[in-house]
Amino acid sequence: MRTQVAIIGAGPAGLLLSHLLGLQGIGSVLVERQSADHVRSRIRAGMLESGTVDVLTRAGVGERLAAEADHHRGVYLQWPGERHHVDFVDLVGRSVSVYGQTEMTKDLMAAREEAGRPAFYQASEVTPHGVDTDRPHVTFTDSDGASQRVDADVVVGCDGFHGPSRRAVPGQHQRVWERTYPFAWLGVLADVAPSTDELIYAWHPDGFAMHSMRSATVSRLYLQVRPDEDVADWSDDRIWAALTTRLGAGREGWELGTGPITDKSVLPMRSFVTTPMRHGRLFLAGDAAHIVPPTGAKGLNLAVADVSLLADALTAWLRDGREELADAYSDTALRRVWRCTHFSWWMTNTFHRHGDDFDAQLQLSQLRRVVDSEAAATEFADNYAGLPIRFG
Ligand code: APR
Ligand code: PHB
Repeated sequence: MRTQVAIIGAGPAGLLLSHLLGLQGIGSVLVERQSADHVRSRIRAGMLESGTVDVLTRAGVGERLAAEADHHRGVYLQWPGERHHVDFVDLVGRSVSVYGQTEMTKDLMAAREEAGRPAFYQASEVTPHGVDTDRPHVTFTDSDGASQRVDADVVVGCDGFHGPSRRAVPGQHQRVWERTYPFAWLGVLADVAPSTDELIYAWHPDGFAMHSMRSATVSRLYLQVRPDEDVADWSDDRIWAALTTRLGAGREGWELGTGPITDKSVLPMRSFVTTPMRHGRLFLAGDAAHIVPPTGAKGLNLAVADVSLLADALTAWLRDGREELADAYSDTALRRVWRCTHFSWWMTNTFHRHGDDFDAQLQLSQLRRVVDSEAAATEFADNYAGLPIRFG
């Protein structure tokens, strides 16, 4: 089989890239390890920057998002005895939207089914070849057990942190930067109306807690736990007690509504960047190239920014024969990646309990600065609400 762009991985990055290329008349084939149902039902992030919403809207997949997403002017930052609203709209003129990655994935999958674009789900042994040459290709075994080969002009690795694409770059051409954190998140999904209109990020002596949401009837909540924490040790009662203590500490009289917990999992926290994001005819995008800890909700937004740049670059190259944007892709994407890597590292370090009491006082001083100083609040809002996505 021959196509212009072979895309490995059909998470948000792969699905959106294929859609954006399709709109420009560039053909692509998606090769995904999991089943379509598995991809559709994964619980992941839920906060979209305004730039992400713009990309999805311009791509014609923003209709349900416009009708169903919840627009938030900002977020609450709190610590014992204080809860403050940071208003992004007032500070930088941009808002954010709560819309589950699961919903965005469904919209993109529906669009690709409608357009009849080819995808192989449940593919195994997916391997990129010849990325140093002018004839790259991808081999895999399809869901019927047949060997397949897709020849392409370029291969794009959108296969997440554990996928094979990053490993196709020879070691001497690749550099990795990494930071692991001495804590993790216990994330729960609960059938209960959110007890807040906008997200709450809470510093607490027992550890960080966060209140997010998926809809008017579903809450998403997180607790700082140890990296080796066993979910089995966290009964529903223990989870609600910890959330009530940590989230309730910011404002007297405020109450956390509780309800049936439908999902619990422990999420590791890591920062990871690999460079460059292009090697020959192989391009990396999204989690295949970088991971951020979830504090600050940058992972999904970074993936969207990468593929938005990459779609423009590949269109210019494969349709108009101009390679400059493809040459600029890695450096351009990485400038944003490092900004978001810094911001999510800063949020993670500032909100989680680690170190000693001296560290705790420095954290609280940082948080007070964000709410006391308009300059500091503006810097926070500008990073959280998202930077522009563009070349140059
Ligand atoms: N072959 C084919 N596909 C693979 C392989 C493989 N060997 N390994 C992984 N994949 C697929 C995964 O099954 C997944 O569907 O690649 C896809 C990668 O998707 P994500 O991990 O969601 O990464 P990405 O699309 O870059 O999205 C990044 O979404 O999931 C969040 O935390 C993530 O917010 C971040 C954003
Ligand atoms: C979420 O809703 O899952 C979420 C929101 C904001 C974050 C992290 C996760 O910083």
